[in-house]
Amino acid sequence: MTRVFSGVQPTGHLTLGNYLGAMRRWAAVDQHRADSLFCVVDLHALTVEHDPARVRRLSLQATSLLLASGLDPEVCTVYLQSHVDEHTRLSYLLECVATDGEMRRMIQYKEKTAKVRERGGSVRLSLLTYPVLMAADILAYGTDEVPVGEDQVQHVELTRDLAVRFNQRYGHTFVVPKATVPEVAARVMNLQDPTTKMGKSDESGSGVVYLLDEPEVVRKKVMRAVTDSGREVVYDRDERPGLANLLEILAACTGGDPEALSGVYETYGSLKKDTADAVVELLRPLQERHRALCADPGYVEGVLRDGAERARAMARPTVDAAYRAIGLLPAVADTGAGVALNTAR
Ligand code: TRP
Repeated sequence: MTRVFSGVQPTGHLTLGNYLGAMRRWAAVDQHRADSLFCVVDLHALTVEHDPARVRRLSLQATSLLLASGLDPEVCTVYLQSHVDEHTRLSYLLECVATDGEMRRMIQYKEKTAKVRERGGSVRLSLLTYPVLMAADILAYGTDEVPVGEDQVQHVELTRDLAVRFNQRYGHTFVVPKATVPEVAARVMNLQDPTTKMGKSDESGSGVVYLLDEPEVVRKKVMRAVTDSGREVVYDRDERPGLANLLEILAACTGGDPEALSGVYETYGSLKKDTADAVVELLRPLQERHRALCADPGYVEGVLRDGAERARAMARPTVDAAYRAIGLLPAVADTGAGVALNTAR
C-alpha cells in the first residue's frame, strides 16, 4: 500500500490556506487511499524565535484541528514529531549526506533569513538545517508520496536527492518519495496582499482567515479583501490576482470552477458576499468538531499517545538500518553471552 506522509508546523494558527491547500485533501482522499501519517512537526516550530507556552498550545490545537478536519485516528496515524526520536536520529545522519551549499540554496531559507535579519534578529542554525529534518520526517517512514503545497516542493526535491545519494553511497535504505500537489487552490493567497500566500505566521492577520475565526470575523476579512481596479468580474491570475484569489476560494469551497464562476457575478460586492458565506459554511462543521474535541482533552492525548507508538514502530527499522549502513555499530545489549559485533560491511 502507498505510504503517505505530511506535516504541519505549529508556528501559528492554522488557516484557510492550510485547509484548502492540504488538510482537506488529507482527510477526504489521502487517509483512505494510503497508509498515511500526519505529523504535527513541533521541532520545526523551534527554528524561529518562539514562546514555549505558545508552541505547546499550538501543537495541541493543530492536532485537534487535524482531527476536526476529518482525519480519523482509526484510519491514519496522527502524532507529534517530538514524541518519536527517530526523526532527530535520522536527521543527523542526513546532515552528513547533505551539503552546506544545498541548504543555503533553499528558497524558503533565503526568504525567512531575510525577514529575520530585517528585524535585526539572528538566524538559528536549525533554520538552515530544517529541510534535512523534514527529509528525515519523510524518509524514516518509507514514504512514497508527500502531499504538500507548492512552497514545499523544493524541500521534497531535496529529500529525493538525499535519499538517492544515501542509497548510492551506503546501499539501498530509503524509498525515494515524490511530492503531490493538489491542483485546486494549492495556493490560497493573502486577502490583503494577493501576491503572497495566506501564511499562518503573517504578522497582520487581516488578510488571513484562520480556521477558528468567528463567522463575523471571516465575513469582515473577506468583505475587506483587496480587489483589483476595473469593474467586471474576470478570472485572470496575473492581471487580477485579488479577484482570482476570491474566485478560487469560492470555487474550492463550493466545488465550482473559478473561470465559470467569474461569469456568474456582476459586481465585486456580490462575489465577496458569496465567498464569505461559502467560507463560513465550510468552517462551521469543522469548528463544531473542534469545540467538542476541546471539551475532551483526554481523547486527544490518547490519540497522540497511540499515534506516537505506531509511528515509532514504523520508523525504527528504517532508521536502525540507516545507522548500520552509514557505519555505526549497533549497541549490543549486555547479555553476558559475548555477542560479536558484525563489522563485515
Ligand atoms: N515544512 C513543512 C511546512 O512548512 C512542514 C513539514 C515538516 C512537512 N516536515 C514535513 C511537510 C514532512 C511534509 C512532510 O509546511
